[in-house]
Amino acid sequence: MKIYREKDYDAMSRRAAEIIAAEILHDPACVLGLATGSTPEGAYKYLVDWYGKGLLSFKDVLSVNLDEYVGLAPDHDQSYRYFMQSNLFDHVDIVPGNTRVPDGLSKDPGTVCKEYDAYIRSLGYVSLQLLGIGRNGHIGFNEPGDHFVKETHVVDLTESTIDANARFFASREDVPRQAISMGIGAIMGAKKVLLCASGEEKAEAIFNTVCGPISPSCPGSILQLHPNVVLVADETALSKLTAAGVEV
Ligand code: GLP
Repeated sequence: MKIYREKDYDAMSRRAAEIIAAEILHDPACVLGLATGSTPEGAYKYLVDWYGKGLLSFKDVLSVNLDEYVGLAPDHDQSYRYFMQSNLFDHVDIVPGNTRVPDGLSKDPGTVCKEYDAYIRSLGYVSLQLLGIGRNGHIGFNEPGDHFVKETHVVDLTESTIDANARFFASREDVPRQAISMGIGAIMGAKKVLLCASGEEKAEAIFNTVCGPISPSCPGSILQLHPNVVLVADETALSKLTAAGVEV
């Protein structure tokens, strides 16, 4: 795992955006696996800026998002489709039909999951999978459990994730209890994984992901088995690793 230690959130965001931009410049028709949350917001701002300056085009890029809340419409301001539109897609030249986010409103989520995996398989592979990480080590919405789930699936969110995400909703009661998440199979099938983390509250999850036992109790730890992971994190997110003497 290659680790970039950045001084703060902005430096982390810029480095992550550079790695994504490099992927697009190298292969303008690449498949980007995209993530939501506060972690990648800064990287998306840099990408939008560079697109505006003519340095980058998304016109042949395909994207598949990691996850979506069950029960939120695409135009709900906390849905992940809305997040992607407002943070990236509406501001660049990506073709709307080339962007995928699981349908959280479907009456048949089981079929949504199967079709999502079939679509990813039809693309061949994800060129670069961007990931944030939950405080409990979740990636996408693959929550800690007693086994890794390979396929796209419906997840019951943990209390810890509901607590962490409550800050985006009017009240904790408004946070959806379920989500559809890409499984560990599609994430591990990506050619390259770009894991980003910022802040002290991610330090333990990052430590367990990089150094802990490979266990579904910290879903991120499976990334130790991936041959091409780049971790971009700020000093506070790396603090447990550095305190333990791990070279970063
Ligand atoms: C959410 C998302 C994840 C994200 C994580 C961390 O629950 N499903 O994809 O990585 O939480 O979010 P944040 O970046 O806001 O800390």
